[in-house]
Amino acid sequence: PIGAEHFIPPGARELDELKAAAAHCEGCELHQNATQTVFGRGAADARVVFVGEQPGDIEDQKGLPFVGPAGRLLREAVDDSGIDPGNVYITNAVKHFRFELRGKRRIHQSPGPAHITACRPWLVAEFAQLRPELLVVLGATAAKALLGPSFRVTRSRGQLMPWPASAQHPEDFPVAELQALATIHPSAVLRADDRDAAYRSLVDDLKVAATALA
Ligand code: URA
Ligand code: SF4
Repeated sequence: PIGAEHFIPPGARELDELKAAAAHCEGCELHQNATQTVFGRGAADARVVFVGEQPGDIEDQKGLPFVGPAGRLLREAVDDSGIDPGNVYITNAVKHFRFELRGKRRIHQSPGPAHITACRPWLVAEFAQLRPELLVVLGATAAKALLGPSFRVTRSRGQLMPWPASAQHPEDFPVAELQALATIHPSAVLRADDRDAAYRSLVDDLKVAATALA
């Protein structure tokens, strides 16, 4: 893949400009089969940025992140944690839906390392505009994009970390130091054998994030 950097307008000043440019991104092959680019959404002055994996089937159709079942669960968990939803911007590590066709069904496929790397410049550009105080890293794909290949969400979730001190490419994030916290992806809660316990553990992690914003 040639990477998203070739599609980012130089000197872009606003999230809306980035979003408009991302609609035409051909930085990797995922744009070919997906319906549309799904850019981040939320307040320009958001203090916390949530980073998921990639849009799902419903997000791909609607063009908005986290509007399907995982999104519903995430919003509930944000409410239960005490984080003000007005302080939240939500985006994904990869901005096109990757799937495999089985008959007429589109089956989610996790993005590969090349897609994560190709799409990462959009995330960098979003952070540079938003200058948040805190990143909430949802699941393994976002962790690969932001915390490096050896980070293990299950081992290190729920802990506030300085960032980008712990990042893979700190030099490309022109932001003052902020904090990051990793937790499980809301889709993993939906798939868990003990959904209630998994949900509570997600909320507990987000409560740690809430204290960082208090
Ligand atoms: N899962 C994600 O990681 N992102 C979305 O936008 C929806 C589901
Ligand atoms: Fe561009 Fe990212 Fe879509 Fe690939 S997934 S085409 S890099 S927006």
